[in-house]
Amino acid sequence: MLMVVILALVLLACGLLALSPRNSSKDEPPVLPGGLILIGHAHILFGKKLRAWELFKKMSHASLKAGGVISTFVGPQTLYWVTDPNDFWKVANTCLDKSKLYDFVKPYVGNGIGTSSSSVWKVHRKLINAAFSQVVLDGFQDIFNAQSRRLVQELEVEIGKGPFDHSHCIQHNALETLCLTLGVDFTNNRHVLSEYINAIEDIMDVFMKRFQRVWLHSDFIYNWTELKRKQDEYLKIMHNMPDTIVSQRKAYYLNNRKCKKIEEKAKGPIFKSVMDLLLELSIEKGFLSEYEIKEHMYSIIFAGYDTLAGVLMFTMLLVASYANVQDEIWKELHVVFGDDDRDVTKQDLSQLVYLEAVLKESMRIYPIAPYVIRHLDTDIKLRNCTLSKGRTCLLSIYGVHRHPMWGPDADEFKPERWLDPATFRESTIIPFAAFSMGRRNCLGQPFAYMSMKTTLAHIFRHYRLTGDHKKMTLKMNIMLKPVSGHYIAIEKRTK
Ligand code: HEM
Repeated sequence: MLMVVILALVLLACGLLALSPRNSSKDEPPVLPGGLILIGHAHILFGKKLRAWELFKKMSHASLKAGGVISTFVGPQTLYWVTDPNDFWKVANTCLDKSKLYDFVKPYVGNGIGTSSSSVWKVHRKLINAAFSQVVLDGFQDIFNAQSRRLVQELEVEIGKGPFDHSHCIQHNALETLCLTLGVDFTNNRHVLSEYINAIEDIMDVFMKRFQRVWLHSDFIYNWTELKRKQDEYLKIMHNMPDTIVSQRKAYYLNNRKCKKIEEKAKGPIFKSVMDLLLELSIEKGFLSEYEIKEHMYSIIFAGYDTLAGVLMFTMLLVASYANVQDEIWKELHVVFGDDDRDVTKQDLSQLVYLEAVLKESMRIYPIAPYVIRHLDTDIKLRNCTLSKGRTCLLSIYGVHRHPMWGPDADEFKPERWLDPATFRESTIIPFAAFSMGRRNCLGQPFAYMSMKTTLAHIFRHYRLTGDHKKMTLKMNIMLKPVSGHYIAIEKRTK
């Protein structure tokens, strides 16, 4: 009897596999093996066997092994996984609409710059670009220096005390820096920043729980759940800080409106921060409503602060793990600054080429935003296959960073590779997508490099760090984050 049942089960499994999902056209990318009839790969993608980050890496490697693109199915829906850098660029630059999956984050950031439809995005991005121009960013260099000095000072209490978790300090500092560049100072109101930071952590966990439970993808079901109730609670806290920024800055703008106009008449156009630019577009030109300004602020702060903090945290841990890298950074800093503890200027930043290589390598190893997901509004012909209109495409940043173009030591942290011309000799494109690629890439990239390089220059002029990044366990909610082991120890640098 047992034999008959086993045989029946084997036959059923074979039948299901024989009827497993496949693409109708030969030009489509290969299908990930193991899909089942009706549910496709849902049991693999949403099963709890592997944690999200492990599963994500496994899928990215399956795509790399298949030549850079692979198809998966969840019921009738197709999800492509792209890891080839050229194909990544083509999809990212052709299809500018985010996937429907971003609807889950719309309660957090509304239809701000990061989630708006391509038609709205085209107009708004053009307008907002001006606020991220080099002249505006140069005006923030004093803030970056002052905030870096503040971080150095805050870390002082940890000297000689052994390993500690440095992420808390860095998160506060990065958020405070971003707010200062938006024109609002929370240094005497730090609890507002703490509340925001905690709410963001909580909301990202809510997102991941919803994403992993397919039945909660339906708004109808989700709206009745305890998880949704929690989401609403966290959202109130999460929106409080950006709302305060908008109202404080708006009051300031209205109070100084006349003087600003006189100044502009005399001196010509004044380059404005993104907050003031949005207020001007709203108040002077009636182009945006106050709610639209808030949506952009939710988006920019959400996109900007946790990424900055995360990259700084990973970079410090990585450098702490490799004494030779830390020595090279120190040597470069010594060439540029000597024994002087002066502020970092924009000319200094362009000379810190090794430090920049360290940052890039850190983002390659630990991409804080490991993926972007686009909706395909047209068929796209890639190098070896064609992706079909109407489907969803996950562009794996992690996958691009592990592409064979990086060589057999792709998993190793080697900043020198960025300075070696041989690294990119064979490539038609640099396989690096930490800030995404194409027209809808990260708006804050130059901001991020300026602020992170300034912070790291101050930190490494003062401290020698030790740690071991290999002890770290990672999790992926929306971003890539450490679960544990992200500890470093610091000593004062004497030489
Ligand atoms: C090291 C730090 C950062 C990393 C690694 C990073 C990475 C990214 C990535 C991967 C995207 C997604 C692009 C896409 O969907 O194709 C993005 C978008 C964006 N980032 Fe960043 N980011 C960083 C810092 C910042 C900062 C400091 C700001 C602002 C001050 C910022 C503002 C934005 C905005 C507004 C978008 C949406 C762009 C659009 O849709 O037009 N980011 N970022």
